[in-house]
Amino acid sequence: MSYRIATIAGDGIGPEVTEATVRVLDALLGPDVLMFEWLDGGAGHYQKTGEVLPAETLAACRDSHAILHGAAGLPGVTYDDGTEVGNDLHLKLRFGLDLYANVRPIRLLPGVESPLRHHQPGTIDYVIVRENTEGLYASRGAGVVLRDEMASDSLVITRKGTERVARFACELSRRRQGAPRDGKHRVTVCDKANILRSYAFFRRVCDQVSVDFDDIERDYAYVDAMTVHLVKRPDFYDVIVAENLFGDIISDLGAATVGGMGVSPSAELGDRHGLFQGAHGSAPDIAGQDAANPIATLLSGAMMLEWLASGHHDERLSLAAERFRLAIDKVLEAGLHRPREFGGQAGCRVFTEAVLDQLGRT
Ligand code: IPM
Ligand code: MN
Repeated sequence: MSYRIATIAGDGIGPEVTEATVRVLDALLGPDVLMFEWLDGGAGHYQKTGEVLPAETLAACRDSHAILHGAAGLPGVTYDDGTEVGNDLHLKLRFGLDLYANVRPIRLLPGVESPLRHHQPGTIDYVIVRENTEGLYASRGAGVVLRDEMASDSLVITRKGTERVARFACELSRRRQGAPRDGKHRVTVCDKANILRSYAFFRRVCDQVSVDFDDIERDYAYVDAMTVHLVKRPDFYDVIVAENLFGDIISDLGAATVGGMGVSPSAELGDRHGLFQGAHGSAPDIAGQDAANPIATLLSGAMMLEWLASGHHDERLSLAAERFRLAIDKVLEAGLHRPREFGGQAGCRVFTEAVLDQLGRT
């Protein structure tokens, strides 16, 4: 079987990190297994054509086995309402393909120093499952602005949207090895249920779903307290489920505790489609300088192989993903090619070459 990968490089560092990832995926499986279809989209494309996500790109994504994306967004490229154009590439794909679970692993990799003292690889290893199609983002492009005196956006929590993401989180915890601190399979519901009825509803629906998972420990954290816990006791967490905006915020904090956005992969999954991209932005200030850290997108590529392997029962892809992850870990462990994000000298290309070289030896 071969797989059509809709590939959208996007803006800023997007082309560099996408090319890095395609090179490694190609080295792992070759063009007969993974066929990359390069597609337009992003703020730069919008500047040229007025379209951030061309219809043919959306159609190709809909028709693909998976979507690989670099990054999107350019400063100053905004709509009249002040919101950024580039972000619509992600949002139109998320809402258009119903990618309801935004899976963001937060793992301290070997050879990477956490800003949290006393933490070594293995003690920070959890996954944030961010609801990805409603919450405060449901108001994207629909908020009220009155006479330049008042503006409001609504927070939308639906039963269907919450049930499916809560179920996803519990099933993910079942597949993992438990929290580093105690090995417990634990799902933490992160919300603000003490103050807002919408979040109390989110928590109630998560609780109702958890009845089917009595092997998974239930845990709760108000989002303000969550920011303290992710710094003070990250090893306590296994899987965290959160509404869209809260998931957006705590996943960046989590990424910072394991080295930065350059090591933060993501898989945005629906029942039929998957979008794989680093959780970082387009970093236009370092674009075109070979300075980007490709690890977030590389790891997103490994997540894509794992997702395809599981959906198509294709052992070739899970083996390739294992080799992919091992190669990244080995390069980091050797410490010879530390990405600039970690204070090293290795640019995007050098780090990618080191991963390819590692693959050549395994
Ligand atoms: C993210 C980003 C996006 C978001 C932007 C680029 C639309 O911050 O994926 O975390 O706000 O979700
Ligand atoms: Mn974000």
